[in-house]
This record gives sequence, C-alpha cells and structure tokens, in this order.
Amino acid sequence: MGMIADSAMVVSAHPLATAVGVDILRAGGHAVDAAVAVHWTLAVVAPWAGNVGGGGLMVVRAADGTVHTLDFRETAPAGAHRDMFLDGTGKPVAKLSLLGHKAIGVPGSVAGLFAVHDSLGRMPMARLIQPAIDLAERGFVLTALEAKELNSKLHSIQASSSRPNAFTARAHWNPGDTLRLPELAHTLTRIRDEGRDGFYRGVTADLIVAEMKRGDGLIDHEDLASYKPVWRKPVTGTYRDLEIITMGPPSSGGIVLIQALKALEDMNLRGAGWQKAATVHRMVEAERRAFADRAKHLGDPDFVHVPSEELLSSSYIAHRMANFDANKATPSKLVNAGDPLAESEHTTHFSIVDEEGNAVACTTTLNGSYGSGVVVDGAGFLMNNEMDDFSIAPNTPNRFGLVGSNANVIAPGKRMLSSMAPTIVTRGGRLFMVLGSPGGATIPTSVLQTVVNLVDHGMTAKQAVSAPRFHHQWKPDTILIEANAIPAADSLTLVNMGHAFKVRPPIGRVDAILVLPDGRLEAGADPRGDDAAAGY
Ligand code: DON
Repeated sequence: MGMIADSAMVVSAHPLATAVGVDILRAGGHAVDAAVAVHWTLAVVAPWAGNVGGGGLMVVRAADGTVHTLDFRETAPAGAHRDMFLDGTGKPVAKLSLLGHKAIGVPGSVAGLFAVHDSLGRMPMARLIQPAIDLAERGFVLTALEAKELNSKLHSIQASSSRPNAFTARAHWNPGDTLRLPELAHTLTRIRDEGRDGFYRGVTADLIVAEMKRGDGLIDHEDLASYKPVWRKPVTGTYRDLEIITMGPPSSGGIVLIQALKALEDMNLRGAGWQKAATVHRMVEAERRAFADRAKHLGDPDFVHVPSEELLSSSYIAHRMANFDANKATPSKLVNAGDPLAESEHTTHFSIVDEEGNAVACTTTLNGSYGSGVVVDGAGFLMNNEMDDFSIAPNTPNRFGLVGSNANVIAPGKRMLSSMAPTIVTRGGRLFMVLGSPGGATIPTSVLQTVVNLVDHGMTAKQAVSAPRFHHQWKPDTILIEANAIPAADSLTLVNMGHAFKVRPPIGRVDAILVLPDGRLEAGADPRGDDAAAGY
C-alpha cells in the first residue's frame, strides 16, 4: 500500500510543494487553497513544468458534490495565424513551434489561480503565494533527477532566451546544488501585491513584451491584458459502478478517457488477466478508436463545434467497437475517425483531498520540459511552448506524434488542443479517487490504466500507479510500452495478432489519492519521478 493518511492528503511531483500544500491544509485552508499554494510552489521548485508562464486545467469537487472545472489553458496571441510555422513551400520549419519566442502561447496560470481563488478560496492569496516567494528567494536544493533534467535543457534555454538567467548561471548542475530564483521572487511578489495585474499588466507585462520583442515573438500587452480563464462544463461518464468527472474541451483528455473506458465495459478484464494479451489488445483497440476521433473532432469549443455528447454516447462507442476483432489488430489505416452525429514527462499533476472531503485534481504545464526555453529577462520565469499543441500543418505530427485537423488549426485567441485529464472519480456519489498525469498523448491512457488497475485488477493505489504502462494513439500504429510492461509470451501473441511494439522511456507520472472503504486516504505517488505524498 501507499502511504495512508486519516483525512487529508496532497500528492504532487515535488516534496516541497507537497509540504506547502499540507501546511495550508493544517492551517485551516481547504483543498482549493492548498491547490493554489501547491501550484505557486511548483512554479518555483519544479520549473520544468510548474509555472507562471504556462497554463493548466483544474477539476474541483466540493464535499457536497458540486463540481467546478476551470480552463486556464494558453491562447494563441492575436498576431498568430494558421500557417505561422510553415515556410514558403508550406513545410513546417523545424522546431519553430517548440523552441524560442514564436512557440509561446499567452500564459493562463496566474489568471486561473486568481479565478479559482476568487470563486472558491478561503485563505488570503498573500498567504498562499508567500511560501513560493520564500523558496524562490532562499533557493532550494536540486534532486538528482532535477539536476539531470536541467542539464539536459541548458543548451535550449541558452539558445532560446535573449539574456543569461538563473538557470544558465552554471554550465553544469549537480544534485545538492541550490537553485535560487530572485527575479521570480520579485515577479511573485508583484503578483502578491497587485493581484493578476501584477502579471498581466505593469512591470511583469512590460518585461514579457520586451522579451518578446527581442526574440521576434508575438505576445503584446493587449494579449496579456485580455487573457481570460473559462469555467467549463465538466465531461462526465460512468465506468462500471464508478462516475468519472473530468475535463472537457479544449482538452481531449477527458473525452478520450471516457470513450476508452466505456469501450472496455463489456469485457471481463479481471478474468482475462492484467497485462495479458487479450486485455492489452482490447485496451489498445479502444485507445486507437478514441485517438482517431480526437484527431478529427477535437479543438477549442469556442472556435469549433465539438460533438462531445455524441462522442460519449454508449451507442456511438458500441458502434465504434463493432469491428473489433478479438483475435486481430485493426490496422489504424482502416480506422477512420467516426462520424457521430515522448520523451520523459514534462507537465505536472497534483491531487488534493482535505478533511472536509473537498477534492482538487490539477494538471499544469509548459508543454515541453522548460517549455520554449525562453526565460523572461528580469522576470525570471520560463515561457511555455504550447503552440506546438496546435495542428501546425495537416498530417504533421506534433512532439507527441499527434496529428490533427481543421478543428485544431491556429487562430488568434484560440486554445490549442490538450490531452490533460485531471480527473475525480466517485462511487455511489461518494469520493473514490483523485488522479491525473503528465505525458501529452499518454495522459488519458495513463489515467485509464490506473483506473482499470484499481477497479478491474484489484490493485492498491500504489500498485496501480507504479505498474508498467502501454499506450496506443491510433497513429503511429504502434503500441508504445515501458520496458518489461508486457510478459514476453503475451507480446508474442499480440505481435501474431498484428500489433507492433516500441519500447520507450517512462509513460506518465500519475499522482493519485484513493479513498479507502473506511474513509482513510491511500497515496499513489508515481515512483517514476520525485513525487511525494503527505497528509494527516
Ligand atoms: O496539453 C497537453 O496535452 C500537453 N501540452 C501536455 C504536455 C505534457 O504532458 C508534457 N509531458 N510529456
């Protein structure tokens, strides 16, 4: 079993962020207060994904069952246009949507944290942001994993940023080194003192716009001042006796997750066995069809019609599985989108449950590790490279190998399609689980496997998040697996059924909280990272 707490718990990607969250809960804050404080803290201690220069999605379920889902996803700047990443011959310019100033979407995190705090917060914002300010000022000690990650991105940060900065202060970082972020401390202090205007207007905005000008970026004062987070309708569905509450468009994560779960319901996965050929085959075929739909139908619902209800209807999903062959892989080229009426993990998810039973699932991101590599000079934080989540050209895979369609082309003010799936699961109307993951395209499948591991295979939370994973996303037509994820005999059976495999580095980094039958909480902190659980 994972670590157990009696009544309140935080699981996040960094022990210091987890500790700040638990402090807030102990001091009388509720889950939303803790979530806000954890998000600010991750922006300092996990700068590869924690952010003020990125965006995220948050699902809140209050103890009385009320659900709120907030979209603070980045938007394309007003100056963006459909072909901005193509050269004169219509071909994508290498890395333009990934590194440097053009890759940056208008950040949403700061506005998102204020929106959720204005509506639902209890403790003063100044109290929730102060731990992050203190950590940025005093510095914090790099773990082995963080030193390695930062070293691997130093070159990109140097190449993309217009000026030297705290991250590039050393040519090589060692585990145990202290990283101090004084400019970020000043930025956070302006936010503490001036609210969201401390970021979207005034000194910070001036610094962002100056940085954009130096790097030929698009974001201007108007883009920043006009950014708005949006309360969305949650996407919900059932899986066996569970209710799934998750994020809808502009994320595809929730829809892919529920579509894939529902496509498994009429099979006895437990009987077939964990990671056995028949189980993996069924899950892969469910994922293949869900991702084909994603590529065609999903985008920002403020710009395109997303047929969410149709995509989630039981009859539609049954229809999609009608050509499922229990003995043979369905080649992706034969799976069109329905017609209803890599690398390591660099987003970060945290889960929180408080004593009152309020729950928060939040996934936040710069997209790639250290985002665009652009550190805003004088403001000390990294900007995202979320523009790559748009479909930059037809049939051109993004960094996750995902292809898209018109639904996800670039337009000014539009949100790029996400796969993030912060999710809350209830059983009989009672809180059952809080979870989510980084991993781009592998996010919904990592969440899916965690739920299936728990519910169908009877694992503990710790086992469910630790168990090796596999992933299929329609295109490429390959099952990506973690080393040794599937027993050799079953892999062979699957190959004979027409599946192909490719081993890749860790898939997902799920941070989950499971409510045990007696009401205590079990942590599922993913061993793939420095993830840490704490509670009381
Ligand atoms: O929103 C998305 O789906 C991606 N930008 C998330 C990126 C991510 O998970 C990075 N981890 N590998």
